[in-house]
Amino acid sequence: METKKYELPLLPYAYNALEPFIDQETMHIHHDKHHAAYVNNLNAAIEKYPDLFAKSAQELIMDLSQVPEEIKTAVKNNAGGHVNHSMFWEIMGPGAGGKPSGKLAEQIKKEFGGFEEFQTKFNDAGTKRFGSGWVWLVQTKDGKLEIMSTSNQDNPMSEGYIAIMGNDVWEHTYYLKYKNMRADYLKAWWNVVNWQEVEKRFSN
Ligand SMILES: [Fe+2]
Repeated sequence: METKKYELPLLPYAYNALEPFIDQETMHIHHDKHHAAYVNNLNAAIEKYPDLFAKSAQELIMDLSQVPEEIKTAVKNNAGGHVNHSMFWEIMGPGAGGKPSGKLAEQIKKEFGGFEEFQTKFNDAGTKRFGSGWVWLVQTKDGKLEIMSTSNQDNPMSEGYIAIMGNDVWEHTYYLKYKNMRADYLKAWWNVVNWQEVEKRFSN
């Protein structure tokens, strides 16, 4: 059987493209070292059960019951890290920011009261996530929007949600520029959100 290893995607823009909000050095370390490590560690874990290479990283985390116990934790962390970061690069971009439009904007207004209220709630959830993790906008099975946070590289998809957007609140995301000020990073991050890409992930 042919085994196709998981691969680190290229960053869809230059390393300095998100300046001044996310600095070039952070992007290099984050993509070239951290994300690469998740991919390498995922490949190393799956080597023991190569039939699983037929599944995408997303399929692995959507149903961890299919993963042997011996490698389950490694797959959860590293397939999660791979999926989460692959999304993260895509939902950011240069010259981005602003507000969502269309159906997503309407539903955010309906469920959170407005875009600013949504941002405040998202930032708050990201600030309060203790230790390392992610803050998310998710869609429930019945189509409702919710803000949630997860620890480590856990992805809401493992719990049956659709992850529409997520922000990485691991210190490796912001520490060089923002030091311990996670709340400042969370506020600045809105300037690089690529809403067109986020809207593609929202089904209505
Ligand atoms: Fe990260």
